[in-house]
Amino acid sequence: MPLKSKITGTGSYVPEKIISNHDLEKKINTSDAWITERTGIKERRVVKAGQTNSDLCLEASRMALQAAGLRPKDLDMIIIATMSGDMPMPSTAAILQRKLGARHAASFDINAACSGFLYGLSVADKFIRTGASRKLLLVGAEVNSRFLDWKDRSTCVLFGDGAGAVVLEPTKGKSGVLSTQLHSDGNLWDYICLPGGGSENPPSAKTIKNRMHFIRMKGNETFKIAVRTLERLVISTLEEHNVETSELAMLIPHQANLRIINATAKRLKLPMSRVAVNVDKYGNTSSASVPIALDEVVREGRIKKGDYVLLEAFGSGLTWGSALIKW
Ligand code: UT7
Repeated sequence: MPLKSKITGTGSYVPEKIISNHDLEKKINTSDAWITERTGIKERRVVKAGQTNSDLCLEASRMALQAAGLRPKDLDMIIIATMSGDMPMPSTAAILQRKLGARHAASFDINAACSGFLYGLSVADKFIRTGASRKLLLVGAEVNSRFLDWKDRSTCVLFGDGAGAVVLEPTKGKSGVLSTQLHSDGNLWDYICLPGGGSENPPSAKTIKNRMHFIRMKGNETFKIAVRTLERLVISTLEEHNVETSELAMLIPHQANLRIINATAKRLKLPMSRVAVNVDKYGNTSSASVPIALDEVVREGRIKKGDYVLLEAFGSGLTWGSALIKW
């Protein structure tokens, strides 16, 4: 039997500070009714002053390591999927390595925005399948709140902060990551972007004045493509393995918008009892959303050994990806 990667531990962490829709009503021209109806979001978590991306990673990672029965020094690799790391350089994974004391691990970040965890899972799976890694920590983590224009009601109501982590180890058994699918369309890079601060538009008084250090999104255009693309993606992922919807124990979708999640579930004819939803509590935590939702369903005992679990995400790039797991 060839090697596969298997998730042997999960963890997640969201900051304590809550911003509710009612809190936002007091600051910008929006309403709890609009946000709830258009997105399903009721509240989101945001970091406190001084709290960093790697701090969120540390909490989620400790939980995942404990669940896997491993110590930090057992890890040989740390990958963080993020677009809101502590700083452009070094990688947040290197900072996490130090905070964890995972001295034997190689460490790097990847950025595929909201699809980042699926991209990370695919990369991690390859390292494990080839035998190059045996104890790998993968984290999806974002501090979106520091990159939001809190005067722009079309974006600031949507996003939140958090981190989710998994430990991956090799297995020769039947369970594990069966396959991952990754896709992107860079023609649509400007649908969701943060144009300032990189080498094209280095930080300057002009980039600050033009509010280029905040997330921008063509929401409605993105919405339409996300619905169509995710419907195709989940169907093709199940077909690849001849898995019927009736055999799917749990769909763990990216938590951007409840209407997108509902549309995907409807296309699969999957009851919402078999769909992980937490967008109401945390908003869109980008690359953290899938691993946070995964950790929650694992801890709630909603998936058991042998179950098929489907993960999917869609985001800036545009990028999208899926993974089918036999738990
Ligand atoms: O995670 C990465 C991938 N991202 C996504 O998948 C997000 C996809 N997009 C979405 O989730 C939705 O498009 C949004 C939630 C962002 C927006 O919902 P929508 O139904 O597409 O609304 P819209 O952008 O078409 O705006 C409808 C109206 C506009 O007013 P007018 O022009 O019709 O008068 C907006 O100005 O709603 C207005 N609006 C708001 N009103 C109250 C936009 N934001 C708000 C707000 N509160 N926060």
